[in-house]
Amino acid sequence: MKGIILAGGSGTRLYPLTMVTSKQLLPVYNKPMIYYPLSTLMLAQIRDILVISTPEDTPRIRQLLGDGSAFGINLSYAVQEKPEGLAQAFLIGKDFIGDEPCAMILGDNIFYGNGLGYKLARASEAAKKGEATIFGYYVEDPERFGVMEFKRTSPKRENAESVKVLGVEEKPKEPKSNYAIVGLYFYPSGVSDMAEQVKPSARGELEITTLNEMYLKEDRLHAQLLGRGFTWLDAGTFYSLRRATNFVCMIEEYQGMTISAPEEIAYRFGWIDDEKLRESAEKYGKSPYGEHLRAVLEGKIVL
Ligand code: G1P
Repeated sequence: MKGIILAGGSGTRLYPLTMVTSKQLLPVYNKPMIYYPLSTLMLAQIRDILVISTPEDTPRIRQLLGDGSAFGINLSYAVQEKPEGLAQAFLIGKDFIGDEPCAMILGDNIFYGNGLGYKLARASEAAKKGEATIFGYYVEDPERFGVMEFKRTSPKRENAESVKVLGVEEKPKEPKSNYAIVGLYFYPSGVSDMAEQVKPSARGELEITTLNEMYLKEDRLHAQLLGRGFTWLDAGTFYSLRRATNFVCMIEEYQGMTISAPEEIAYRFGWIDDEKLRESAEKYGKSPYGEHLRAVLEGKIVL
């Protein structure tokens, strides 16, 4: 299973903040935004990750994350010359993906919730069996997003989060539901070939929604809902960036511990040893993030 973090875009909605830096490197509370999507892919047990960004920002992101060895994973980098759509990631990443299934997460999408790993594992399993998975999340302003129309497949509570997709639309004027399709997608082997068939939309982009529609037509598109126990945020506008910061701050203060620390995830999965975690803790110095890694290392935080 491969993974892509798409951290492209010019970030004009965040000017002047993003005039000389990448949106995905901006702080969401106490860590760079990209730590959150990286953590999510790692929770899905994905260890081969391609980061795609703009020509200017790719070197900066590489400077921060390096080759992935600090996180016990392989990180590689590729450039998206122009923001020509999310589905383009699968063309840029064609050689990287090869014939494996692949997940993609947007660099400004933040996921939080107990049991997320379990949902991701289900999507991974589906991808290995030839099926794509999208995730739906209730929002008040669905017209800002890709939107899914769906029906419940089972009245049973334990199956309530798995639904049958009836349609997907990109930023519809009259949304058919309040469920946004979030920026995390799982695709089976062959996704690059499929993406090659995507035609540019009216706004000239290779839309991820068109790709999802192709899987839907082949009856290979699954959806899981992210229910009440989950929070999803994108952080691409001042409003949503502030909300994301407030959210992470609140969670970390209430729980008294850091969330979305890739080094911690790597350590829990046994991808890095004590020595490597100690090195990272040293690197972060006296910051709360460094303190947190030390607490993990000393066994003070075990879960
Ligand atoms: C993109 C996708 C949209 C999705 C959203 C999630 O929109 O096109 O389908 O719901 O990400 O963040 P954009 O952020 O490019 O407007």
